[in-house]
Amino acid sequence: MKKIIAVASFTAILLASCTPKTQTSTAPVGPATSTAEQIAQGKTIFENSCGKCHKLPEPTAFSSVQWVGIMNSMAPKAKLTDEQHQWVYDYVVSVKK
Ligand code: HEC
Repeated sequence: MKKIIAVASFTAILLASCTPKTQTSTAPVGPATSTAEQIAQGKTIFENSCGKCHKLPEPTAFSSVQWVGIMNSMAPKAKLTDEQHQWVYDYVVSVKK
């Protein structure tokens, strides 16, 4: 009997730990798990929103670490949502070799 309970709870833990992975598209924040579509969207947002006040910056002109700080100050200027912020960041970083 104990074994059955143990197996049942193990299964429950497995299910619980797998569930978030199937919902990546709706998860607002998370580790860098952007899909190619989200990166493509990031590119579009970047091209539409980031060249308004200044020349469109060159993604390769800054390191991925510099982009964190740049995006933190520019995302509010461009009125990006947290998701858009993430996608644009993932796009500019993806351009780097
Ligand atoms: C509302 C106007 C505005 C928008 C929209 C805007 N920026 Fe900027 N950006 C500025 C200003 C002003 C500066 C220069 C002063 C500063 O660094 O805050 C700047 C500077 C920069 C720099 C140079 C930083 C450096 O250290 O040399 C980069 C790169 C940049 N922006 C990227 C972006 C990106 C990416 C976006 C889109 C998410 C964006 N900007 C949207 C106003 C804007």
